Amino acid sequence: MKYIITGGQGFIGINLAKYLLSKNHKVLTIDKMSYASNSNILKKKKNFLLKKVDICKTKEIKKIIFKFRPDFIFHLAAESHVDNSILNSEPFIKTNILGTYSVLKSFHEYQLKLNSKAILLNISTDEVFGSITRGKFRENNRYLPNSPYSASKASADHLARAWNKTFKTRVITTNCSNNFGPYQNKEKLIPKIINNIIKDKPVPVYGNGLNQRDWIYVKDHAEILYKLSKKGKIGETYNIGTKNVVSNIKIINDILKIYNQKFKKKKKLKEVIEYVEDRKGHDFRYAIDNSKIKKLLKLNNKNNFKKNLIETFDWYFKLQIKNIN
Ligand SMILES: NC(=O)c1ccc[n+]([C@@H]2O[C@H](COP(=O)([O-])OP(=O)(O)OC[C@H]3O[C@@H](n4cnc5c(N)ncnc54)[C@H](O)[C@@H]3O)[C@@H](O)[C@H]2O)c1
Repeated sequence: MKYIITGGQGFIGINLAKYLLSKNHKVLTIDKMSYASNSNILKKKKNFLLKKVDICKTKEIKKIIFKFRPDFIFHLAAESHVDNSILNSEPFIKTNILGTYSVLKSFHEYQLKLNSKAILLNISTDEVFGSITRGKFRENNRYLPNSPYSASKASADHLARAWNKTFKTRVITTNCSNNFGPYQNKEKLIPKIINNIIKDKPVPVYGNGLNQRDWIYVKDHAEILYKLSKKGKIGETYNIGTKNVVSNIKIINDILKIYNQKFKKKKKLKEVIEYVEDRKGHDFRYAIDNSKIKKLLKLNNKNNFKKNLIETFDWYFKLQIKNIN
């Protein structure tokens, strides 16, 4: 099969590209190569192509799609950091809304003119549902985004839905919980905790640190997306998560334990954290009900959080060593 991944050099994109290549598929990533991109990782791999293009450039996107003729497109390209969206929302509006419009429009023309049976998977976040004090987000929950980031992603989801309803564009949307694992930018929570603990720098904690997120290992997410590319139903939306709701402070503590064990240290939580002013509009809790996708793909809910966190720690530790030498 031939896959296009927009934003394919970012955190989830590169993990997904690696997964697809391991299954001997052809992969083309479209990425503008921003600060969040991973370069040179798959460059010399067989069956891999990278096009350095901004998704807002519709003409170029169309050209790439028409030439490559994909069977499936994973649309991941986005501005993805909530804090950045608070400081400057404009790139979020441009890429996440107008960029998604550009991808939808290009894909629709491809579907129409070449009579393609390809599918576009619009990858979104659980943050579009807002914050939930108890219970879990289901697919039919109301959209209540609270940050410029989640509002821009919600807009993209509405466009994807509208293109399917109005133009019969072959689109699926997924709303996934927080990912962690290799290749994530150091601005994000888990890489930041690991890097700061290793470097003996204080770990900033928003508010009281009790905010909760539902964490999924990025490699599990990639596998689920691949399975969905085979079995997902056009026009549907699917929540993705692994029922692993953890507070920020517990994650710091878990990572500190890994560090102490590895380096035979005895650092205490209060020695490594530094409480900072809370994020504006900070959502308190996200939790995903994944029963719909679990049933469709016959997933088992294995939760290997601890093992995956150790693997993640080791990956960032090795990266630091590499960067020093
Ligand atoms: N990371 C998570 O926890 C998470 C959870 C749920 C959903 N998502 C969604 O998954 C997608 C990928 O997230 P990520 O964490 O890998 O993000 P990321 O920031 O690591 O990667 C995004 C990639 O998109 C590229 N990009 C940005 N603007 C572009 C543009 N205009 N044209 C072309 N490429 C552009 C960037 O260069 C980068 O390589 C996003 O749509 C995000 O909203 C992420």
